[in-house]
Amino acid sequence: MRFEGSSDYVATPDLMLAVNAAITLQRPLLIKGEPGTGKTMLAETVAGALGVPLLQWHIKSTTKAQQGLYEYDAVSRLRDSQLGGEHGGRVHDIGNYIVRGVLWQAFTAEAPTVILIDEIDKADIEFPNDLLRELDRMEFYVYETRELVRARHRPIVFITSNNEKELPDAFLRRCFFHYIKFPDKETMQRIVDVHFPGLKQTLIREALEVFFDLRDIPGLKKKPSTSELLDWLKLLVAEDIPPEALHAKDGKGAIPPLHGALLKNEQDVHLFERLLFMARQNR
Ligand SMILES: Nc1ncnc2c1ncn2[C@@H]1O[C@H](COP(=O)(O)OP(=O)(O)OP(=O)(O)O)[C@@H](O)[C@H]1O
Ligand SMILES: [Mg+2]
Repeated sequence: MRFEGSSDYVATPDLMLAVNAAITLQRPLLIKGEPGTGKTMLAETVAGALGVPLLQWHIKSTTKAQQGLYEYDAVSRLRDSQLGGEHGGRVHDIGNYIVRGVLWQAFTAEAPTVILIDEIDKADIEFPNDLLRELDRMEFYVYETRELVRARHRPIVFITSNNEKELPDAFLRRCFFHYIKFPDKETMQRIVDVHFPGLKQTLIREALEVFFDLRDIPGLKKKPSTSELLDWLKLLVAEDIPPEALHAKDGKGAIPPLHGALLKNEQDVHLFERLLFMARQNR
């Protein structure tokens, strides 16, 4: 199985290399990068391109590793035992109350699957360590039913992180790592073309210029990302804003229209306004 890219996702050669390296090594691919640089979408794209099902596991601060394997639903069992009758019959087989998690589903699937463990850094620090053995050996033991669940096909595993927490060394050793660099202008142009085919090139050029200038402002609290640029372009199109309006006429800088799609806090808006004011004064 090889990933050769897809028509609705712009994958740079080094990203494709990383995906294929992880597939060859049969190790999880750990993906980092600024928010909105396509980490989550990568797993969806690879699953689509390889034609295999995608099983997604979105991690929250309360998620436990065990939930990816299975959970024992003791509450339902207790309720059934109290109801008796038809429900009472189920109670004796504890297997009826085992809820299969994403890894179990992937391990027992008929064909290979792609697993996405999204935003692993949201969970507590024990979470990655608790999954080491399962991801390495691709098997786990179900104590309640005394069965060993072993992968029929090794799934392709994608793990994303926004760097909110460090991951343990033992976990990192088992992964192939790739950092999605923020797209350069040319790559960004390709991403925009994928999302807005046929959009006026003058508008894209102006918008990209404003966007990259904005990202270059030193001291910005939150730089706008790919997905924010796409939102902004969508609004510019919907509001029918002409390219000239992005840079105010006769060089008088003005804050770009609909900047709420790009700048997400008041400090950044003030900083930008101050810079524009200073630029006007120096003219
Ligand atoms: N390389 C790309 N090709 C096409 N679209 C992209 C690309 N990168 C980002 N996008 C667009 O940006 C959006 C955000 O991407 P995605 O949700 O995968 O980012 P993320 O890195 O997972 O962000 P977060 O860290 O916030 O979860 C996607 O829905 C897609 O529209
Ligand atoms: Mg994501």
